[in-house]
Amino acid sequence: MSFVVKPSLWISSSSSSLLGEDSGFTSRTSKVTFNSRTSGVLKCMGVANPAAEITAYTTRVSRNANMAKLQAGYLFPEIARRRTAHISKHPDAQVISLGIGDTTEPIPEVITSAMALRAKALSTIEGYSGYGAEQGDKKLRTAIASTYYGNLGIEENDIFVSDGAKCDISRLQLLFGSNVKVAVQDPSYPAYVDSSVIMGQTGLFEKDNEKYGNIEYMRCTQENDFFPDLSTVSRADVIFFCSPNNPTGSAASREQLTKLVQFAKENGSIIVYDSAYAMYISDDSPRTIFEIPGAKEVALEISSFSKYAGFTGVRLGWTVVPKELLFSDGSRVAKDFNRIVCTSFNGASNVVQAGGLACLSSVGLKAMEDVVSFYQENTKILVHTFSSLGFNVYGGRNAPYVWVHFPGRSSWDVFAEILEKAHLVTTPGSGFGPGGEGFIRVSAFGHRENVLEASRRLKTLFK
Ligand SMILES: Cc1ncc(COP(=O)(O)O)c(C=O)c1O
Repeated sequence: MSFVVKPSLWISSSSSSLLGEDSGFTSRTSKVTFNSRTSGVLKCMGVANPAAEITAYTTRVSRNANMAKLQAGYLFPEIARRRTAHISKHPDAQVISLGIGDTTEPIPEVITSAMALRAKALSTIEGYSGYGAEQGDKKLRTAIASTYYGNLGIEENDIFVSDGAKCDISRLQLLFGSNVKVAVQDPSYPAYVDSSVIMGQTGLFEKDNEKYGNIEYMRCTQENDFFPDLSTVSRADVIFFCSPNNPTGSAASREQLTKLVQFAKENGSIIVYDSAYAMYISDDSPRTIFEIPGAKEVALEISSFSKYAGFTGVRLGWTVVPKELLFSDGSRVAKDFNRIVCTSFNGASNVVQAGGLACLSSVGLKAMEDVVSFYQENTKILVHTFSSLGFNVYGGRNAPYVWVHFPGRSSWDVFAEILEKAHLVTTPGSGFGPGGEGFIRVSAFGHRENVLEASRRLKTLFK
């Protein structure tokens, strides 16, 4: 069957990435594919030569039905799309982004020098190396174990170095397969829910309650101190738990995490603990789930250098799978995860791992602390801005995210108002789950002058 596309559906290779996943376009090249058939043969116009007709060929492969369950685009491409539309409407506006949560400050030189040195060495016979161990460089695994899990009984072999926490979320979904039920904090980082949908663990999206069937949404609001009331949570096989939380910025206390570990133990569940923001903790909340006695039998942990060292583009993270963590048949979770990693990943870049090792040297650790302190200062400015305007503000203390309440209003409306009137990009809370409705998330990742300017504009807008 061939199709011809209406001119209104033209797409250039550069604009495709700005479209949400619900757009029906699946290609990043100038070739396009379409998922709906309106009539037998449609007219297709190529961008390079709109006058020429191109007939699109469709395969006989049906679309993965789980992909069709996904709602709209992934949150951040949708925000990028709206930002771009705003810029084209107001080409002279100085748009400031406090939205996506991407780092902005340069990577400390002690870290980039180590990567440069490793890259240079690849041009020599002695310094060249090809594929490394899928689990990561032994020295880096050892350094991660001793730096972050020093006295907690986590060893080098429990650490799997990765190209980032997000990639490992999907690898973990491969590990668990489609027959598990997951629980998530509501609101939470969207990758947990979306990867669960793609894996086929869920039912359809239920429009009336804005939830997917067969996911346990654990409500986290100001009323429960952003920690779920576990007495109302049904059993799930896998509990995704992020602390400090993205987007609420709230870190669970030792007491709360003790309850969570106890809850997992009673239910025979596995906690996937996301500690990507642990270095932002400024009080005595645990930095890792393994500070909680008994956690090694019920939890694994994902983490990342992204928000510590500005590695969002460099890509380096890790997952800890303790040898004590077992499936119901007594087999080790780590053994299966190792198999997944060896099958779907060929190891993190050797250049980047050299950077990771530099991060964990004493100067590297101090340099990362300075980066984190800089963003913590931004956070204080934002918290003060919203508080002084009379808003109820949450988060910020232990995370680079400020969670601001606009009672009775829709998050997307608030997002649109702030973008339209102050040219500031934030993130609508409802994009993180129904529990985020009425909130916006403001990210503290930004140059200082932009954060100060954003603060001025917010004070003008909401005074
Ligand atoms: C909670 C959480 N986990 C994981 C990630 C992804 O981290 P990485 O850059 O290591 O893939 C992010 C990124 O924003 C995040 O907020």
